[in-house]
Amino acid sequence: MFREDLYLSALKTKRLGGKFRWIKEVSSTNDVLMEASSVFGEAVAADIQTKGRGRSGRGWFTSRGSLAFSVVLPVTEPSILMPVNILAGYSVAEALKAYAPVKVKWPNDCVIEGGKVCGMLIDTRFKGERLEKAVLGIGVNLAAVEFPEGAAAKGACVGSWYGGELRRETVMAEILNNLEKFMDGFASGEVDIRALWPLYSANINREITMHRNSGVSKLTEKGIDISGSLLAAGVDGTEERVSSGEIGYDFGC
Ligand code: BTN
Repeated sequence: MFREDLYLSALKTKRLGGKFRWIKEVSSTNDVLMEASSVFGEAVAADIQTKGRGRSGRGWFTSRGSLAFSVVLPVTEPSILMPVNILAGYSVAEALKAYAPVKVKWPNDCVIEGGKVCGMLIDTRFKGERLEKAVLGIGVNLAAVEFPEGAAAKGACVGSWYGGELRRETVMAEILNNLEKFMDGFASGEVDIRALWPLYSANINREITMHRNSGVSKLTEKGIDISGSLLAAGVDGTEERVSSGEIGYDFGC
């Protein structure tokens, strides 16, 4: 059972998550908000997702007691989506840092010692050039459980690190509090996503394995640019700008 009172008392936002629904079982919280006549800032959380979706067409397994929610981003400008993607990663890392040593893996997966603890998916709907709707879905492995064989989210869990009470309602509210603060700061120019990257990144100045359509390459992570693209150096020292692709994983548990 999701304790709405705990969630609402921890929520300090003006725009994100105030309009909220908890649904016990859904196909995917992203789908609920993409389909419905949802409004900016509206959020939906669920215990069970029967068709939880991950990036690149993969599925997403939500373990019992873990967090799966989505929020309609108050964004109409497509060029903001990538920076918001990055800020969403910072928001989760910031919310979880009291419980575990969580870092960000580009663009916005969150990891604990290399094992994935959180994944995010932004779904968009365009009318011509106009961005009509953008829904950010966040799945966090809070509870320590056995992942089913082949689960895309197999990885780390906050519950394996933190022995105290871990309330998904509070974690969700804190993520939204952080995201709103970061987005407001970004809009006003106070938050520079490039300057924050070294503080949150799991791989800054480390060797990464980058999987792209063009193949797999070994690079050294150097940072991100203003649009959220990854800056990395090839083995010969040449700098590359990566705007799509995935960094390889070492699963933690
Ligand atoms: C990934 O890392 O592949 C992205 C995973 C995104 C999972 C979340 S859980 C809430 C929302 N609903 C979904 O169906 N997917 C996202």
